[in-house]
Amino acid sequence: MKLYKELAEWWPLMSPHTEYEEEAGLYLEIIRRYHPGVRTAVEFGSGGGSNAYYFKQHFSMVLTDLSPDMLEVSRKLNPDCEHIEGDMRRLDLGLQFDLVFIHDAIMYLTAAADLLAVMHNAKKHLNDNGMLLIVADQFKETFRPQTDHGGSDLGRKGMRYLEWTYDSDPDDHVTETEYVYVMREEDGSVVREYDRTESGLFSMAEWEGLLAEAGFKAHFERVEYTSIEGTYFAIAAIQK
Ligand SMILES: C[S@@+](CC[C@H](N)C(=O)[O-])C[C@H]1O[C@@H](n2cnc3c(N)ncnc32)[C@H](O)[C@@H]1O
Repeated sequence: MKLYKELAEWWPLMSPHTEYEEEAGLYLEIIRRYHPGVRTAVEFGSGGGSNAYYFKQHFSMVLTDLSPDMLEVSRKLNPDCEHIEGDMRRLDLGLQFDLVFIHDAIMYLTAAADLLAVMHNAKKHLNDNGMLLIVADQFKETFRPQTDHGGSDLGRKGMRYLEWTYDSDPDDHVTETEYVYVMREEDGSVVREYDRTESGLFSMAEWEGLLAEAGFKAHFERVEYTSIEGTYFAIAAIQK
């Protein structure tokens, strides 16, 4: 996606980290329920590092992402965290953590074999009693087509976006999202861009089966955001 490459510098205006405070608190509650003693964590697909900004106040975070541009954005917000470039399916840090966190990133993988590769890789990065927390945006059971919009200003710069997610073929494992971005530069000039991505759409039973194959027991935890409509679940995956 252009958003995670040439447009990455606009990410903090599109999705300011302050908008993540509530959700980070909800995920922390789940983490504490399953693993009260978390001291070290790694995030796969850490993007702009917005959840990490809140998590790092409770435990140490190593941040990893496929995109060097997004790592650069996160370094500005989280200069105190180590940042490492890598694909969540195969990166090898040679370290074990109490928590592997994957949020709003694993759904860019649309093949079950890729999800399984990530789960195996998460297991490789976990201590014996470590947990995996996956926040996947969508499941077959709960998916509804939706539109979203937002953005913010920073001085004279500003960004607004419109996002439309739909499922053109309910029989496959993919949804489509179209984006329109409008960006106002410091000098007042306006740039418009379009973007598109596909996201994986799997049932809870499919997630549960893949996690079991990788050695995890899946617990689906309802997450109640006050500002987002719809039904959302995080998966607390505990090693068997
Ligand atoms: C929406 S951002 C994640 C937001 C982040 N969890 C936060 O709290 O700010 C999605 C990120 O997933 C990353 N990503 C997508 N596919 C990936 C992969 N296979 N391995 C690692 N990162 C990936 C993208 O580069 C992007 O930076």
